[in-house]
Amino acid sequence: MEKIAGWQWYELNETGSTNDEAKKICSAIHAPCIVTARCQTAGRGRRGRNWISEEGNLFMSFSFPIQVSKLGHYVMMSGLAVYAVIRQFCPHADVKIKWPNDVLVAGAKISGILFERAEDEFWVMGIGINIVSHPSVSNAGYLTAGLNTLGANTDRMKVFKAFVMEWERLINLYNNGGLPQIRQTWLDNAYNLGKKIIVKQEKENMEGIFAGVDEMGSLLLQTPNGLRKVIAGDVFNKEEKNEKD
Ligand code: BTN
Repeated sequence: MEKIAGWQWYELNETGSTNDEAKKICSAIHAPCIVTARCQTAGRGRRGRNWISEEGNLFMSFSFPIQVSKLGHYVMMSGLAVYAVIRQFCPHADVKIKWPNDVLVAGAKISGILFERAEDEFWVMGIGINIVSHPSVSNAGYLTAGLNTLGANTDRMKVFKAFVMEWERLINLYNNGGLPQIRQTWLDNAYNLGKKIIVKQEKENMEGIFAGVDEMGSLLLQTPNGLRKVIAGDVFNKEEKNEKD
């Protein structure tokens, strides 16, 4: 175990999923921790998808307490922190945050984030960032991107450390009343804002205009029947042809 910015940090060679390791460690130590791994053999994505986890890319999970009523804020900040890190390494790239917290470069997914409950008030924020490689099209049908194919010439540890610094900066801002600024920065860099989208959920699909996010980070969808608030779902651009149903 090492320390980074006050966190207990466990770097593993290979594991199934850093989210599972972070859950195990946090239930043993009852304290915030970070787990990183060189590769994952069973990386998980949202909605039961897998996350292809090749060596050289970044897989990291942060476990810390979050009040359920504030979870949406942390989801919003996670996407924003990854966004800022991608901008640091690729200053000229067209980087956007896709609700709830995917990060895209020129429309291709470079990072995915999976929040899972650990125990008591502890949650795990698991983040994958493509650096040295990326599947040409993910198993969900998205186009994908990686930092080094965009010319960043970096490595997983540099990106990890930049993320920790950015996360600490954002949390500090948040704890000092910065939520309005955080939400505005999120909106300023949102993918598909003002466009026609489809939100796919387990039981229904909804169509409308992506009107923004509320102060909790919920998606606001302008539909013919009025403004609807969406807490969870997958967003698709109505005009995009390269995404599977
Ligand atoms: C998604 O976009 O569907 C979320 C992908 C989350 C992947 C990361 S990699 C580190 C952590 N461990 C996992 O098993 N999943 C997350």
